[in-house]
Amino acid sequence: MTPELAALKSNIEDAIQVHLPASSALAQPLVDAMRYASLSGGKRLRPMLVCATCTGFDGILEDSLAPACAVEFMHAYSLIHDDLPAMDDDALRHGLPSSHVAHGEATAILAGDALQTLAFETLANATSVEAELRIEAIQLLSRACGWEGMVGGQSYDLTAEGTELSLSQLQTLHAAKTGALIKASIQIGAMFAKVADERFVLVSEFADRIGLAFQIVDDVLDVTQTTEELGKPAGSDVQANKSTFTTLMGVEQAIETANTLLAEALPMLERAGVSNGKLAELGRLAVHRSY
Ligand code: IPE
Ligand code: IPE
Ligand code: MG
Ligand code: MG
Ligand code: MG
Repeated sequence: MTPELAALKSNIEDAIQVHLPASSALAQPLVDAMRYASLSGGKRLRPMLVCATCTGFDGILEDSLAPACAVEFMHAYSLIHDDLPAMDDDALRHGLPSSHVAHGEATAILAGDALQTLAFETLANATSVEAELRIEAIQLLSRACGWEGMVGGQSYDLTAEGTELSLSQLQTLHAAKTGALIKASIQIGAMFAKVADERFVLVSEFADRIGLAFQIVDDVLDVTQTTEELGKPAGSDVQANKSTFTTLMGVEQAIETANTLLAEALPMLERAGVSNGKLAELGRLAVHRSY
């Protein structure tokens, strides 16, 4: 990672600390679980995408930190629920016990719920842009994460276990369960730079490709890396009998598909007039990574 991106990640982690509750007279174990899930690691790809898109369109970094935290809270919630026994039943995340193992199932579920509402609260309170734009950003995030987006994709992922999906079905699944939040992160970054013209369309097309490539690589890493390297259980997809890009086309072809998507995506940034190299670098990191 470049020093600029490392600095951005650190800015984001400071902002996450600020936006998370520290204590609660009502429910301290809940707050502890929210902090555990949000502060225990992770690549911070989605919030970095928010900030890099905003500044890439000459927006102000500080203006983009609150929406960046909002998407990371949404992501943290999705991982807590994804690891639950009723879903992927994975006991390890970020090299640590998963939230339900560390805090118990009920508290983990509630921490996910509370992180989701905190995401919307954080976005609604992001007063660096006018209220109308914030409403649009909230609409975009709710749509990306709801029944037609991430949650719909998670449902499809679980109901498809044990069946063989076609390539187009799998693309639809991945675009919903993972692509939608990645795309929303980039679009919200553009919104916070007040970009709403054809540049928004171009950066959204970049986002579609990076979002799909990201999940393809996640599928690949599940079978090529060790649990220690991933910080989450390797082979989880195989164990759950999921259809993935690797079961469908094999590791090499899956990697090639991700690389092709990246190669298609990068020129769109130039066409969109994105001014710094951070967003391109994040696109490369989404595909060329080891965990
Ligand atoms: C994991 O996402 C869940 C998927 C959508 C594949 P990340 O790999 O971005 O998770 P962290 O936050 O870096 O651990
Ligand atoms: C999770 O996909 C997607 C969401 C959490 C929305 P995976 O189940 O593949 O993620 P990992 O591999 O557990 O991180
Ligand atoms: Mg899953
Ligand atoms: Mg999982
Ligand atoms: Mg996975």
